[in-house]
Order: sequence, then structure tokens, then C-alpha cells
Amino acid sequence: MKTKAAVLWEVNAPWSVEEIELDAPGPNEVLVKLAASGLCHSDEHVVTGDLPFELPMVGGHEGAGVVQQVGANVSWLAPGDHVVFGFIPSCGRCVSCSTGHQNLCDLGAYLGSGKQISDQTSRHHASGKDLGIMCLLGTFAQHTVVHEASCIKIEKDVPLDRACLLGCGVVTGWGSSVYAAEVKPGDTVVVVGVGGIGANAIQGARIAGAKQIIAIDPIEFKREKAMEFGATHSANSMAEAVPLLQELTRGAMANKVVMTMGIGSGAVIHEAMALTAKGGRVVVTNIHPAMEFGASISLLDLTLMEKQLVGSLFGSGNPRSDIPKLLGLYREGQLDLDGLVTRTYTLNDINEGYRAMRDGENIRGVIKYD
Ligand SMILES: NC(=O)c1ccc[n+]([C@@H]2O[C@H](COP(=O)([O-])OP(=O)(O)OC[C@H]3O[C@@H](n4cnc5c(N)ncnc54)[C@H](O)[C@@H]3O)[C@@H](O)[C@H]2O)c1
Ligand SMILES: [Zn+2]
Ligand SMILES: [Zn+2]
Repeated sequence: MKTKAAVLWEVNAPWSVEEIELDAPGPNEVLVKLAASGLCHSDEHVVTGDLPFELPMVGGHEGAGVVQQVGANVSWLAPGDHVVFGFIPSCGRCVSCSTGHQNLCDLGAYLGSGKQISDQTSRHHASGKDLGIMCLLGTFAQHTVVHEASCIKIEKDVPLDRACLLGCGVVTGWGSSVYAAEVKPGDTVVVVGVGGIGANAIQGARIAGAKQIIAIDPIEFKREKAMEFGATHSANSMAEAVPLLQELTRGAMANKVVMTMGIGSGAVIHEAMALTAKGGRVVVTNIHPAMEFGASISLLDLTLMEKQLVGSLFGSGNPRSDIPKLLGLYREGQLDLDGLVTRTYTLNDINEGYRAMRDGENIRGVIKYD
């Protein structure tokens, strides 16, 4: 069939919105009509080359839609089912999946090629070329074909233009605070960068019972929005936050610091560590450029103060249990998804959506399909 998609042909090029050819789903694959897709910063890292994924590629990894057709062997999904995509597939059988770390599923090894998990070929084609799909999904398209391991079936009562946010930003941010940072009641938490990920790190810290949540972002609109998600204080920069934290914590500093800047920087890790209390933890969720190997950090501080520096992928969560769980918190009014969507776009306007993200105008921009 023919469908419309945003394709990245080379690094530092705009998204090309064009008609593509989509094959029928093969065994263990599913054809989905997208309803909505969030504009996460991670696709921008592919554009700049910081995330060196194979091109050409259909972008997008934060999507939800309705199943149209299932391939052979797919026993648990049927046409009409609503699905959110996990940006890391989960097979349910590998060591990571079977020990409660679905975010580290072995099938994640296929992300770089963007080719189908089943047989490492493409179902998406344009101009005579095979196309990869971002995070094995390709949600910047009216339709896509993905492996069943990437699908999480959800109940039909939640609007899909809200549910799509659970495919990356919400679980990643919330889990960065709740699972990776292990925020405890009474903790002081710092969140550095208030985009789609940081806003949810703030919500996770709030729900986990943080006493104080300090949101750091150079953009005033972001600092204002942070207060709506549960931040108690804000600062322009990590440097500005030092005296604020000294005053708020009587010099003890923050128990947990969650890094959710647009582009990670090794040069600022020492600043994050300086905001952290003895025995505290810095969680690195933001993506650093693949070719950045250095970080500025006092390892004496790390040892003598027993500080921890940990990475977190997909909020260190389990998409198959966390996506339904967080939809439940939304239903009960405890998790704000509506406030995350600053603007909606058509697929044709995707480059404008990413300009707005780069200029810090959106918490999340979301593409809505017909
Ligand atoms: N680890 C994971 O599983 C995972 C998943 C999704 C996204 N990410 C990454 O998380 C990061 C955030 O993604 P997003 O979609 O929220 O991005 P975004 O662009 O929407 O938000 C980033 C925010 O950081 C702010 N910022 C930039 N420099 C800053 C600085 N020096 N100090 C404080 N704030 C600063 C920006 O003003 C912006 O508000 C990206 O690197 C993205 O690739 C990681
Ligand atoms: Zn993402
Ligand atoms: Zn697995």
C-alpha cells in the first residue's frame, strides 16, 4: 500500500514528507494506522548525527494507533485494537525481559539498523530504496508495520493523542525519577531541562513524595510550566541553583539530580555532581553525542562523598507494565498528560514542530493524523 511519511535521507537535512510504499506485515508483524506521534528530541539527535542510526529512515518513536492487520503468528492482537509503541521492543523471553528490565531487551540491538526484527529487511520503501524505521517504529507516518514486540495493547478509553506520549517521554521521565533515581518521600530532587522528558521527571518526583523539586531551564516558559507539573522552585542554570539549594537544604544539597537537557554535555557533569548531596545520585537520561568520550567530573568527590552517577534508558522501566500503570494514573487525575501537549501539528508541518522544539517553545509538540 501507499502511505505518507517523514523520511530523513541524510544528516542535517530537513524531514522530507513524501509518499512511501509499505509492504504487508510479515510473520509476527502488525500494520498500524497511526493516530498521533510526539516530537521527541531523540529524533533530532539522528538528524544531527549525534545518534548514528542508519539512513534513510522514517522518523518517530513516540506513537499510538489502531491495528489494521496482523501477520502470521500474531495471536494476541486483532484489527481494531489500540496500541502504544514501546521505543524499545520487549520480547518477554530474554534475560533482561525475564528479570524485569524490559527496557534492556536484547531486541534493542536492532535499533541502529532500523530494519525489521523478524528478518532484518524493510517493509518501508521510497525512491527504489529500503527505509529503516526509528526505534523499529517509524511513527512519523500515517501507517507503519512493526514487530509485535514493539506493541503494547491499551484500553480504548484514553485518547490516542495522549496515550502516544507513554511510548517514550512519559515513561522515560517518570521512571528516571521513580526507578533510576529511586526518589523517596522527603527527598530534594533537581531536574535539569524541562522538555517532554524533564516535565515527566518532575511528575514522577512529585508522585514519589519529593519534599522539594527544583526545575532548571534557561527558558522562562519552561520554568513556569515546571511549577504546573509539581516543581516547587526553579533556576536558570545549575550555577544559579547552587545558592538556592544551599539555602533550601541547609547546605546538604539534593538527594537526586535528574539530567534531561536537550543535548547531554560531558562538560557539565561536575556541576550536576556539585548539586548532589553526600550519598546522592545523578541520573543521566539525556542523550550525549556518540563521539563524546570525555566528562568533567571529580572522581575524588565521587568516592569521598559516595555519590552515584547512573544512566537510564526508557526510565529504567518495563513498558508492558508501566504504560498501562501510567495510563491509570492519568485516568485518576494524578498524572498530567494534557498539559504536556503544547501544540499539535499535521505531518506536513513536522519541520516547524522541530523548529519550535529547538527554540524551546513546546513541552511536547504532537503530530495528529486524520
Ligand atoms: N534515556 C532515554 O531513554 C531517553 C528517552 C527519550 C529522550 N531522551 C533524551 O532526553 C533529552 C531530553 O529530551 P526532550 O524531548 O525532553 O528534549 P526537549 O528539547 O524537549 O527539552 C530539553 C530542555 O532542556 C533545556 N536545556 C537545554 N540546555 C540546558 C541546560 N544547560 N541547562 C538546563 N536546561 C537546559 C531546554 O531549554 C529544553 O527545555 C534528549 O537528549 C533526548 O534525546 C532520552
Ligand atoms: Zn523519545
Ligand atoms: Zn527481551
